[in-house]
Amino acid sequence: MSQDNVKPENNKHEKIEKNVGLMAVLIAVAISFGGLAEIVPLMFQAEAVEPAPGVKPYPALELAGRDIYVREGCYNCHSQMIRTLRFETERYGHYSLAGESVYDRPFQWGSKRTGPDLARVGGRYSDDWHQVHLINPRDVVPQSNMPAYPWLADAPLNVDSVARRMGALRALGDPYTDEDIAGVAAALDGKTELDAMVAYLQGLGRHAPRPGSQANATGAAQ
Ligand code: HEC
Repeated sequence: MSQDNVKPENNKHEKIEKNVGLMAVLIAVAISFGGLAEIVPLMFQAEAVEPAPGVKPYPALELAGRDIYVREGCYNCHSQMIRTLRFETERYGHYSLAGESVYDRPFQWGSKRTGPDLARVGGRYSDDWHQVHLINPRDVVPQSNMPAYPWLADAPLNVDSVARRMGALRALGDPYTDEDIAGVAAALDGKTELDAMVAYLQGLGRHAPRPGSQANATGAAQ
């Protein structure tokens, strides 16, 4: 007699183990339950889906700058996500909150930091500094390995495309008004891609909670 008195055909687990397709389907089911348990509660949490106090959809110039940021791949070297760790908050400021990026489509949290996090860079430097830095980073930070983006200074902005993108964001639920969209041409008048990028960078972290404010009481360590 065999030592194993469970015959293979009666062993359900063996059937799964020997059938790769069935195994893959069942693994997917098991993982999706785990995912659902994490994701579904977030959909109902005001903290994650409602804008933090003061956070508004990007004005035309900043919206244009944001799109150039995405186009140029700045996220390949810069994150916009300050974690709840002391060495992060000491260097960059208050940790990032979900409500700060509700109007970021797609979000720019990133995960690669060749350069510093930019979530709170707004106001840290003057507009002039940013312009010089973007045209040639080595002019202000000699040891920098950030690429130069000199073409931004000569490139005009495309009013039509920014207005259309604002309309698309409104269709997705961002509260842009008709006046906002009608005002795009005036807001971008005479501006270059460099101006738009600087405006976007200067707006980053504008609504960051101040240390000691209510957001600090949400539980996470500072
Ligand atoms: C190859 C990686 C790389 C890319 C791509 C890159 N950067 Fe940087 N960035 C850096 C590094 C490294 C630094 C730190 C040295 C310096 O200040 O130049 C930096 C610094 C900065 C700073 C100053 C931050 C601070 O707190 O001092 C800003 C602002 C910035 N980058 C914006 C941008 C923008 C906007 C783009 C896209 C147009 C971009 N970077 C693309 C690597 C990169």
